[in-house]
Amino acid sequence: MVYTISSPNLAELGCWGVNLMHWFGRLAELIEDWVYLIRRDGWRSALPEVGWAIVTLPCRHIEFIVLARSLLEPLPNLQFGIALEIRKFGLADLNLARQINRPSEARAFARRLDRGHVGFLALHEGQPAGYAWACAEIDPTLERVNLKLDPGDVFCTDAYTASAYRGRGVQAALTLARLRLFRDLGHCRALVTIEVRNHPSLAVWRKVGAQAIGRMTFFRIGPWRRVRYTVEGIE
Ligand SMILES: CC(C)(COP(=O)(O)OP(=O)(O)OC[C@H]1O[C@@H](n2cnc3c(N)ncnc32)[C@H](O)[C@@H]1OP(=O)(O)O)[C@@H](O)C(=O)NCCC(=O)NCCS
Repeated sequence: MVYTISSPNLAELGCWGVNLMHWFGRLAELIEDWVYLIRRDGWRSALPEVGWAIVTLPCRHIEFIVLARSLLEPLPNLQFGIALEIRKFGLADLNLARQINRPSEARAFARRLDRGHVGFLALHEGQPAGYAWACAEIDPTLERVNLKLDPGDVFCTDAYTASAYRGRGVQAALTLARLRLFRDLGHCRALVTIEVRNHPSLAVWRKVGAQAIGRMTFFRIGPWRRVRYTVEGIE
């Protein structure tokens, strides 16, 4: 079955004020992140990312691929480049999120924990190397998409590997940990949306046997946003 859904957003529902407040809140978060990145990594390293974020602030258009991995099929046994300890994310780890990535992530993780989302943290010799999250219900204010989940679906989201550890299997290990947990909880399908140009992330999901089932277009002008997606359901 093929279906196309244009996700409702707060503006379309007549809540312009709420949408605008959300946008200004996000802007304040971004500025805090930029200051943090510049202080931590220096101007030269932070400039490409900060510059790109500023350029795309007024308007953004992103194409995503929607991938699915059946949890009813056996999961692969993969070898990883380094020894990793993978454990569930807890409240005590919020500062590690800030350390691996940025302050807005630590805040988002607190909200995820509050909503019962499950996060995994990867450590190498005690050092945080990456994280990845999953949830059975989508909160559009956190995911910024409103993908329709069927009963038994789990949505895999917010994955990151610290640059020093990339290409060594950290994200493959975290992805397998998420798939195993939700399979054991009785879920039957994992979904993920990945930007079309994010080749490392697509490589991770292909490695665990996911298949593209659709496309999604994210379009934003200022605080107004629209997400359209076409997904081919698994028969
Ligand atoms: C995407 C990301 C999470 C991958 O993490 P990682 O720990 O490096 O992933 P892994 O080491 O498990 O696997 C990376 C795979 O991508 C491949 N890869 C790396 N760079 C690539 C490139 N430019 N083109 C194609 N494949 C690439 C690697 O070869 C590896 O595949 P292999 O094991 O078959 O060789 C990491 O790059 C990251 O944090 N990026 C920034 C945030 C992000 O994009 N998050 C995901 C949002 S969906």
